[in-house]
Parts: sequence; structure tokens; C-alpha cells
Amino acid sequence: MPDNDGWPADRIDTESAHSARIYDYILGGKDYYPADKEAGDAMVREWPAMPVHMRANRDWMNRAVRWLAENAGIRQFLDIGTGIPTSPNLHEIAQSVAPESRVVYVDNDPIVLTLSQGLLASTPEGRTAYIEADFQHPEAVLGSAEFLETLDLDKPVALTVIAIVHFVLDEDDAVGIVRRLLDSLPSGSYLAMTIGTAEFAPQEVGRVAREYAARGMPMRLRTMGEAEEFFEGLDLVEPGIVQVHKWHPDGTGEEGVRDEDIAMYGAIARKG
Ligand SMILES: C[S@@+](CC[C@H](N)C(=O)[O-])C[C@H]1O[C@@H](n2cnc3c(N)ncnc32)[C@H](O)[C@@H]1O
Repeated sequence: MPDNDGWPADRIDTESAHSARIYDYILGGKDYYPADKEAGDAMVREWPAMPVHMRANRDWMNRAVRWLAENAGIRQFLDIGTGIPTSPNLHEIAQSVAPESRVVYVDNDPIVLTLSQGLLASTPEGRTAYIEADFQHPEAVLGSAEFLETLDLDKPVALTVIAIVHFVLDEDDAVGIVRRLLDSLPSGSYLAMTIGTAEFAPQEVGRVAREYAARGMPMRLRTMGEAEEFFEGLDLVEPGIVQVHKWHPDGTGEEGVRDEDIAMYGAIARKG
């Protein structure tokens, strides 16, 4: 459970489960409350592979950021739906390749703000910033001083939207929101996303979605065809959109992972 360290904590609803803290609990973190543990335990009962699935998503983030830094020469990142700090954070991966890398983190959960010191420990050569904003209002991100002062919009930026759009319902137009963010970035920028899907374990993942929905977090899981909509007009990096464990595996992931254990597509694409 977090030590709030002087930050205002009165906006944190400790009685209700929250997606960022359920994820932290299942990944073996320490920043959760009993309601999150209860939710996480219920979900793992419904789908025992859920920890494997969540670790595979986080491992994808690690490989994708490294790929962007090493293979695409990206030195600037805009990370939407950052989550509770955990090791390694995105900037630590990017700065291990290029210490001058700059990262702007965005999340709307007050607990992430409370713990955001862990996201701000940049190398001296680089820079990090944190914006508390709702991704559904992209102008709040794009107009913020932290965004404008941290990133140089004459140079490419990687927009990372990892394990968040399954919490954005159709009426909120996740594809349109991602497109508005990407439109503000120069050509040569990249989009890196993971997208929740029930295509490989429909019953189990459907039951997990019901557990989230019962706690006020309705989900929008997507088919491959729906995942493709995010990347229309962009140049997909090989191998395209695949389950996260199949995207550039580097041998460090968990062994024996089956397709039905993974409910997340992942892909990187370049804006021309
Ligand atoms: C499952 S976590 C993913 C964390 C990290 N991106 C990763 O993949 O390891 C989802 C995060 O998205 C955040 N989130 C959900 N809806 C959001 C919104 N509308 N605006 C900003 N952040 C949001 C949650 O607070 C949570 O921290």
C-alpha cells in the first residue's frame, strides 16, 4: 500500500478496485488496497492464466521500447496510461539505450500521480514529465506545458498506448482519440499499442471482463479486424499485429506460454 509521501491522497478511492492497482497486484507489486486484491483474486480464479497474460504485456512494453530506441532511433516518448511505477519503467528502458531520451507519462489515476516520483528520476541528459490527464481528452495532454516543454515536435515521437484501450468504450472512440494524438506528432513518429482481445480464450476472458464490469470498469475487447483500425494508413513494422508473446520474442519471456494464455495483440507502426 502506498506511502503517500505528502501528496494529497484524498482523491484516491481505496474502497473500490481500480485497473492500475489490480494490474500492480497481479504483477506482484505493492501499491494496492484490499478491494484490488479481492478483484484480482476473483479474476485469476476465473482465468488462471491472467498473471501470464499481464506479464507478457509488460514484457512486450519492454521489448517494444527497446526496439524503438535501438532500431528506429526514437529518443522521445509519449506514454498514455502509464500505470503504477514498476521496474523497469519506460524511461529506464529508453535511457539505457540512449541516456538523452525524453519521456512524457500520462495517467488519470490519482494513485499514479501519488507515486509519480518513481517516473521522474531521469538521467541528467534526458528528461521525464508526468501529466495527470484523461486520455479521452487528448487536448489536455497536447496543450499541457509538460508536453510542450519536454518534447521537441520537430523530431519523431513514439506514442505508446499500452493495455489501455480495452477500457475505452465505443462511444468514446478510442481509434479517433489515438488518431488525434498521432496527428499532433511529426512524420517519422511511431505508434506502439497493445489491444485487449478475447479471440484466443473467449469464455475465460469474457468472465474476467464481467468481473471488471461488475466493479465499474466495463471493457471493450477487440477482434483482429478492430485492432487493425488503429493502424490504418500507417506502416506496420514486421510481423504486424500479433499476440504480444509472438512480437519479436527475445528468449527472455516466460517459457511454455500458450496462445490461449494471452489476450493482447501488440504492434508498432510508423507514421509516414
Ligand atoms: C493495465 S494499466 C497499463 C499500464 C502500462 N501501460 C502497461 O502496459 O504496463 C492501464 C492504465 O491505464 C490508465 N487509464 C485507464 N483509463 C485511462 C484514461 N481514460 N486516461 C488515462 N489513463 C487511463 C489506468 O489508470 C492504468 O494505469
